[in-house]
Amino acid sequence: MNILITGGCGYIGSVLTPQLLSDGHHVTVVDTQWFGNFLEPHERLTVVKEDIRNIDAIPLEGIETIVHLANIANDPGVELNPTLSWEVNVLGAQLLADRAVRAGVKHMLYGSSGSVYGIKDEPQVTEDLPLVPITVYNKTKMVAERIMLSYSDKMQVHNIRPATVCGWSPRMRLDVSVNMLTLQAVKNGKITVFGGKQTRPNIHIQDMAGVYRHFIAHPHLPSGNYNAGFENISILDIATRVKDKISSEIIVTESNDPRSYRQNSEKLLATGFSPKFKIDDAIREVEEKYISGELKDNDNCYTVKWMKHLGLVG
Ligand SMILES: NC(=O)c1ccc[n+]([C@@H]2O[C@H](COP(=O)([O-])OP(=O)(O)OC[C@H]3O[C@@H](n4cnc5c(N)ncnc54)[C@H](O)[C@@H]3O)[C@@H](O)[C@H]2O)c1
Repeated sequence: MNILITGGCGYIGSVLTPQLLSDGHHVTVVDTQWFGNFLEPHERLTVVKEDIRNIDAIPLEGIETIVHLANIANDPGVELNPTLSWEVNVLGAQLLADRAVRAGVKHMLYGSSGSVYGIKDEPQVTEDLPLVPITVYNKTKMVAERIMLSYSDKMQVHNIRPATVCGWSPRMRLDVSVNMLTLQAVKNGKITVFGGKQTRPNIHIQDMAGVYRHFIAHPHLPSGNYNAGFENISILDIATRVKDKISSEIIVTESNDPRSYRQNSEKLLATGFSPKFKIDDAIREVEEKYISGELKDNDNCYTVKWMKHLGLVG
């Protein structure tokens, strides 16, 4: 199959791309390469350094499936430059979906976010609950989802709502909770937890890639929104799990981030997907990669720090 991955040089794309190549697909990656390009060359891989907003430069001919990951990919990154984020996350989605349909693309997989729900009192957050996005990032995700679904009469659309992703990627992110807390423990022997009581769902990066592969293998699953989050635990519980494995001290400070939610992913599980990895695997990977020297605590592992460095500030 011919697959286009936007944002394929990112944290998730750098794990997903080699797996799709191993599955035998032809893969085209379109990415601005803001954080670098960590993809190994491959005879069935084409990497195009381009901005999705420059839609005429995106090679869509012959593409059957798109995995759309190119976004400003976290809350503080979006707050740095909301205009850029609306342009990339929303306008970019509209341009891409519109051109995709005209080019005959049959399947769109969009990497949305479980954070579209906002704060929920319901013990189980399912896809049918109303969205109350709190931050600009959450709002851009909600609007982009709706744009994608508005094309579902012309192509199959799967909006995936992932939990916070954890685990090792060649393009490493150290601003996501499990990775960040593990690095603090292994590097400094101290874990700083903001608030700590907020419950959040998690998904291992190998399972994240697995979800996209699952939908590529089952393109006729009904169009719609699918949660993808499994271990719903508090930040303090994550810190405690890290502390159990890596000798460290936990320091709890005040938090101004009220988002707390539990994701129910029964709809995804009912399609036949089952997760194979745990938060504990991610903790072990981050520890091992740091000790071996493969993981370095570089500025480009932090979205906000690196966006400032690139001058992508509004
Ligand atoms: N990592 C998580 O915990 C998580 C959770 C839920 C949803 N998501 C979503 O998954 C997607 C991928 O996330 P990630 O963690 O890999 O983020 P990332 O920042 O590592 O990857 C995004 C990639 O997109 C590229 N990009 C950004 N704007 C672009 C543009 N205009 N044109 C072309 N390329 C552009 C960047 O260079 C980067 O390589 C994002 O849409 C994100 O919102 C991520």
